[in-house]
Amino acid sequence: MYEDRLIEMFSKAINDEYTSVIIYTKMASFLRGVDAMPIAKELLEHADEEHIHAKKIVDYVSKHGLESELEYCVDFEEINNCPQDLQGVVEKTQDLEQEAIEHYRKMAECAKGQNDIETYHFVKGLMEDEIEHFDDIAAYTQETRGFLTGVGAVPINDEIAEDKYSDIINILRNR
Ligand SMILES: [Fe+2]
Ligand SMILES: [Fe+2]
Repeated sequence: MYEDRLIEMFSKAINDEYTSVIIYTKMASFLRGVDAMPIAKELLEHADEEHIHAKKIVDYVSKHGLESELEYCVDFEEINNCPQDLQGVVEKTQDLEQEAIEHYRKMAECAKGQNDIETYHFVKGLMEDEIEHFDDIAAYTQETRGFLTGVGAVPINDEIAEDKYSDIINILRNR
């Protein structure tokens, strides 16, 4: 049933958002050195924005009378095992943002398939924010490329992004 699937996907989304809030806050506190401070600042801003996403989801689900169906369960194992070094922090952030983009893309597709236009636009808005987050971190890895050389952070160029995210880009173009 579509409603059950929606609740399942919103539950995962909200748990991923809260898990990201904690991981970003924790990773920002690990970073040391002048060069890493812009990334730490960015992570704290992302943490605030992921928290806003979680609150928006609760509001949206509540508006539809389904808040009691949400299952809360942050991933403590993932939180406890988050990286502490700059390379690991950057890679973890990119992974989390990619996962969020993919999850909201799947949700948007599911909603579109059910002709649920309201949910489609809601999750597409969240997905656009996550794409921005991904780009923010990619921009830092570009800017700090010299600093990160040797620790393996690879900036994503437009061509790769276009190919990798072609389905997402198509959704954005067709809105
Ligand atoms: Fe988010
Ligand atoms: Fe994000």
